[in-house]
Amino acid sequence: MMDFQGKVVVVTGGAQGIGRAAGFAFRDAGASVVAWDVDEEALAELGAIRGRRCDVGAPADILAAASELERVDVLVNNAGIGADKSLFDLEVEDWDRVLNVNLRSIWLCAKHLAPKMPPGSSIVNVASTRAFMSEPDTEPYSASKGGVVALTHALAASLSEKRIRVNCVSPGWIETSEHRKISERRPANLSPAAHAQHWVGRVGEPDDISAALLFLASDRATFITGTNLVIDGGMTVKMIYQE
Ligand code: NAI
Repeated sequence: MMDFQGKVVVVTGGAQGIGRAAGFAFRDAGASVVAWDVDEEALAELGAIRGRRCDVGAPADILAAASELERVDVLVNNAGIGADKSLFDLEVEDWDRVLNVNLRSIWLCAKHLAPKMPPGSSIVNVASTRAFMSEPDTEPYSASKGGVVALTHALAASLSEKRIRVNCVSPGWIETSEHRKISERRPANLSPAAHAQHWVGRVGEPDDISAALLFLASDRATFITGTNLVIDGGMTVKMIYQE
């Protein structure tokens, strides 16, 4: 097991879903975890994880939350949203909100937290396989996630002299219904077909991503920076022909 004893870990969007699971995984590995999130109900349920209301789409919120921290060893830029609107219904405000929450926030979190990160620290960003493949009507989400992959290697270059490594993961389908706030938590209800279409025979779980986040942030990964790790049960390498 990776050891994060004495380390301070910030997880954005850490109150639910993948971020919540990651926060608990870092805590179980000994870290002191701070979750930044907009959902105050979910933040209040985190128990051993410190919650801090922070809208990462708002630059002033990031600056204020960052100023409360003296040292950070791991930053997990996980917060992400979609727009759920068609190409033709999407407004500029929708586009900006998705790009600001999913992409600009990563630059701002790095800008304000990297000065507090000692050599050997690590940033891990959460992109998506939608950086590389799409369904219809996902323009801002896909664009933001493609941006996350590119921003990851840009930050890896800029922060190399500080000896801060920067990587990202690209999850495929991760079922998070058991990692919601209590009022919305429900058992996963997935069809056999949903599982079977993956080469590994199942849909992903938040801890599939947590495991990679811990590895990339750990001393086991000190030769890895600027890279993207796809974690999708094989979906993006699945060749599909219809005859
Ligand atoms: P989720 O919706 O279950 O949880 C996201 C958390 O982020 C929530 O607690 C929410 O309140 C918080 N959040 C939303 N906007 C925020 C903001 N402006 N500032 C701070 N916190 C905010 O999401 P999920 O599924 O756990 O996704 C986490 C990350 O993984 C996202 O970046 C998402 O794009 C990415 N991802 C998820 C996949 C999936 O299948 N679940 C697949 C690929 C990528």
